[in-house]
Amino acid sequence: MPALRILVTGATGFLGGHAVAALRRRGHRVFTTGRGSGDAAVDLCAPGMVAAVLEASAPDLVLHLAAMSRVRDCEQDPRRARLVNVWLPQRFAERFGPRLLHVSTDLVFSGSAPPYEERDSVGPLSVYGCTKAEAEQVVHQHEARVVRLPLLFGPDAQGRGATASLRRAQANGVVSTLFTNEYRTPLHAADAAAVLADLLPDVDGPQLLHVSGPERCSRWELGRRLCALHDLDANLLVPAECQDALRPRDVSMRGSVPPRRSLDEMLMAS
Ligand SMILES: NC(=O)c1ccc[n+]([C@@H]2O[C@H](COP(=O)([O-])OP(=O)(O)OC[C@H]3O[C@@H](n4cnc5c(N)ncnc54)[C@H](OP(=O)(O)O)[C@@H]3O)[C@@H](O)[C@H]2O)c1
Repeated sequence: MPALRILVTGATGFLGGHAVAALRRRGHRVFTTGRGSGDAAVDLCAPGMVAAVLEASAPDLVLHLAAMSRVRDCEQDPRRARLVNVWLPQRFAERFGPRLLHVSTDLVFSGSAPPYEERDSVGPLSVYGCTKAEAEQVVHQHEARVVRLPLLFGPDAQGRGATASLRRAQANGVVSTLFTNEYRTPLHAADAAAVLADLLPDVDGPQLLHVSGPERCSRWELGRRLCALHDLDANLLVPAECQDALRPRDVSMRGSVPPRRSLDEMLMAS
């Protein structure tokens, strides 16, 4: 396949680092944006910024990862959440149609009827979930493609991520509380990035795709397996029941792309 010019928004985020690496490994020329760093370090919601970045990067394809991704932040500032999570992808969809791959989340679901397939109805519980669900609709109006991802784990380029946090916490003797009643289909961020990099050039591919991890798993179970595989202290994990109305209980997804490795292999690499 010929090398393509690809704009990655949110390239400085957790998934962004993995996605940029996966695209470069495939020989593509990648232009990166983030608010604080990247080839263009800009607030894409500021007036004229989308046009300016598109002029500077002249991309063949856009992988849109930029988002206000923390549930609590979105609850605190719903207007900003809508601007970043809906208005922004709409601008790219208008210009790029199917040449835009937009990334969404399992949190568009309510958690009451898992496992979720692409044909299932959304029912978000949080502002974050609502904005991501709305973005799916608006980008689809322009025939852009959407991939829904589950909970991601693994280290990023700066060593951030759940595993690194747990390791740091344990090194300081800090106890980690993990929910026993919140189920997802977790996936290593590098595996998610590899699938996105393969899907991106396929502009005739499906409009909506679930990419999920190999197993349904609670955060508690995930933490225990991580401890067992990495020789961490499972006694420093405390089980708890989640009572938060904003967090769906079970948003496990049935993925359409077969996982490339087992959950234990992913956890070993995290
Ligand atoms: N992480 C997960 O478990 C997960 C699961 C499912 C779906 N997703 C989706 O995957 C995508 C990436 O998630 P992530 O975990 O990598 O998020 P993240 O770590 O919070 O990164 C968000 C990225 O967006 C950029 N950004 C935010 N607002 C911006 C703005 N106004 N202008 C320009 N850039 C802006 C950030 O730049 P700065 O860093 O400079 O602020 C950062 O590069 C999101 O669409 C998210 O909804 C993530």
